[in-house]
Amino acid sequence: MTTTENPTAFGSGNAATDKFKSERVSSDTSVERAGAIIKDVLRSLADVVHKHQVTYDEYRVLKQWLIDVGEYGEWPLWLDVFVEHEVEAVHYDRNNYSGTKGSIEGPYYVEGSPKLPSKCTMPMREKDAAAPSLIFKGQVTDLDGKGLPGATVELWHADEDGFYSRFAPGIPEWNLRGTIVCDDNGFFEITTLEPAPYKIPADGPTGWFIDSFGGHPWRPAHLHLMVKGAGHRSITTQLYFKDGDWVDSDVASATKPELILDPQPNADGVAEVTYNFVLDPEA
Ligand code: DHB
Ligand code: FE
Repeated sequence: MTTTENPTAFGSGNAATDKFKSERVSSDTSVERAGAIIKDVLRSLADVVHKHQVTYDEYRVLKQWLIDVGEYGEWPLWLDVFVEHEVEAVHYDRNNYSGTKGSIEGPYYVEGSPKLPSKCTMPMREKDAAAPSLIFKGQVTDLDGKGLPGATVELWHADEDGFYSRFAPGIPEWNLRGTIVCDDNGFFEITTLEPAPYKIPADGPTGWFIDSFGGHPWRPAHLHLMVKGAGHRSITTQLYFKDGDWVDSDVASATKPELILDPQPNADGVAEVTYNFVLDPEA
């Protein structure tokens, strides 16, 4: 995994691309299905070219931009911002999930984060600890509300400056990443910090793309989660914060009304919130 000295589109993009390339991906798509999908993609493109009377100059700019996205290593970023939410919606519906809603994984998940007990504080630096704390607690249950013993909640999120460990230089490897092992009734209580809104790297081809139509590069502050329980289907989701900036205009179109937290100060004045995860049984 590569990082550079300063967080830049080139650094984050390459780190996300290196991480993705280190996974081996495959799909059992048949030739017939691939043919049907590809035909529709080309048809859609043809329709756009005709509808908008696309010029040769515009075609060449597109070609150059596609080359640039690859050279900057930004395909994971661009795809996860502009396409993944549709794939996620299809995944949830097609598999008839009825538990907690999912959301996009994004480019910054890393497998194998350190295991933490059900009541824990996320790995963080002194500077993170100075940011406002968040106590995030709840229970992982089945569809009937029965707690799932030993369920795991993998949590990863950006720091108070909006950076993810492993994808920006100078941050300890597992900072703000952990695999929380729930107690015998599926309960967890995590102390972390309130994440900041996240600005997707805007100094490379994804940024130029957004500028070209006058968009903004922001995602609302969010927690990333992967929740697993024995005999149950895992979910990948995100949680957001009520009234937070960009909640209604996420560049990645990945917010859902069911995934909004509303933390309130507890007796010690610390922001605290309860959110329960409901997992569907294995199909
Ligand atoms: C991107 C970053 C995120 O943190 C996220 O949740 C989704 C997408 C991105 O930069 O592509
Ligand atoms: Fe994120």
